Amino acid sequence: REKKLKEYLSIYSQYVDFYHDELLKNKTNSNARDYLKNRSLGKEEVKKFKIGYIKKNPNFFDKLKDEFSEQALVESGLFYLDEKKKIYLERFRSRLIFPINNISGQPIALGGRIIEKLDYLAKYINSPETAFFKKGSNLYNLDLARKLSNKIDHVYLVEGYMDVVGLSKNGIENVVANLGTSLTDRQISILNQFFNDIIVSFDGDESGYKAALRAAENSIKELQPEKQISFIFLPDGEDPDSYVNKNGKANFIDFTKQAKISIHQFIFNHYKQQTENNPSSMAIFEKKLRSIAATIKDDFIKKYVLEFFLEKISLLTPHSNVGKKNFYTKKI
Ligand code: UTP
Ligand code: MN
Ligand code: MN
Ligand code: MN
Ligand code: MN
Repeated sequence: REKKLKEYLSIYSQYVDFYHDELLKNKTNSNARDYLKNRSLGKEEVKKFKIGYIKKNPNFFDKLKDEFSEQALVESGLFYLDEKKKIYLERFRSRLIFPINNISGQPIALGGRIIEKLDYLAKYINSPETAFFKKGSNLYNLDLARKLSNKIDHVYLVEGYMDVVGLSKNGIENVVANLGTSLTDRQISILNQFFNDIIVSFDGDESGYKAALRAAENSIKELQPEKQISFIFLPDGEDPDSYVNKNGKANFIDFTKQAKISIHQFIFNHYKQQTENNPSSMAIFEKKLRSIAATIKDDFIKKYVLEFFLEKISLLTPHSNVGKKNFYTKKI
C-alpha cells in the first residue's frame, strides 16, 4: 500500500503540474485565461492554488502510460475507459482544475469547472473517491489555511472552490471548502484541531440555507468547550466570492462581525420561525429543541445549550415574534 500511495501521489503531482503549466503558458489556452480574468483572477491566484486547464482533446494519458500501469491510472480517478470507443478518457477534459491537497499540500484529488455553459455537462465535478481520497475527511485549502492558525483563531467554511479563491484574492485566506457533500463530523474535528471558531458561510440561497441547517444539526453534537461554530447568512443571491468582490475585504469582515450567530441561536431561530403561537405548535417546538440538545456529546455543552433553549422559550409570549419570517439573520 505504501508503494501504491507513492505512485498515486506521483500521478497527481505530474498531472497537476502539467496542466498548471498549460494554463499559464500554452497560447491556445487564452480562452481559459480570459475566463479567469473576467472573474478578476490572475497569475497570482492561478499559481497560489495551482489551477490548471485541460483541453477538450488532451492526450496526457499516453505520456503517463510510459511510467504507470493502466490500472494505476484508472484507480487515480483521473481517467476512465470509454467502453464503446475502447479508449481512455480524461475525466476533467474541457475544465479548469482545482487541485485538492492533503494536509501536507500534496494533490490527491481534483475539482473541475467548465468555462462555457453546456447543458449536458455539470458545472462542477470532483474526483471520485479513491483508495487515498475520501471526501468527508478532506477540505479544500486546509493545507494553506492551517498555516495561519497560529495567528488567526477562526476559519471560514464555504461551499465552493471559487469562494476560497475569491476570498483569498481579497486578502482573506483562512478559508476552507467542503467538497460538495454535507459537512461531516470528521471535518469538524479536523478544523477544531487548528481553529477555535468555524464560521459557516454558505451561499445566500435556499440550498445554502438548507445545507447550513443540516451542518448545524449535525455538528452541534460535536461542539466542545472553548470551541465555537457560527453562521453568517449572506444577502439573497450572493455567495462569499460574489459578495467580497463587490464589497471588499473590510466590508466582508464587518458583515461577519455583525451578522454572525452562534450555532444554538441559529437552530433556535430556525425552529421558532416554523412555530405558531398555540400550545400544540409550541409543544412540538420545545420537543424538537430538547431532542437536538440531547444529541450533544459533551455533558457541559449539552447542559448549557438546553438551558439556553428553555430560557428563550420561556421568554416567548403571545406578543412575541413566534413564527416571524426572515428574522434568522438578526439577533434577538
Ligand atoms: P455552487 O453551485 O454554489 O457554485 O457550488 P457557484 O457559486 O454557482 O459556482 P461559480 O461561482 O459559478 O463558479 C458550490 C460548490 O458545490 C460543488 C462544487 O464543489 C462547487 O464549488 N458542486 C456544485 C458540485 O460538486 N457539483 C455541481 O454541479 C455544483
Ligand atoms: Mn450555483
Ligand atoms: Mn451554492
Ligand atoms: Mn459562485
Ligand atoms: Mn456559490
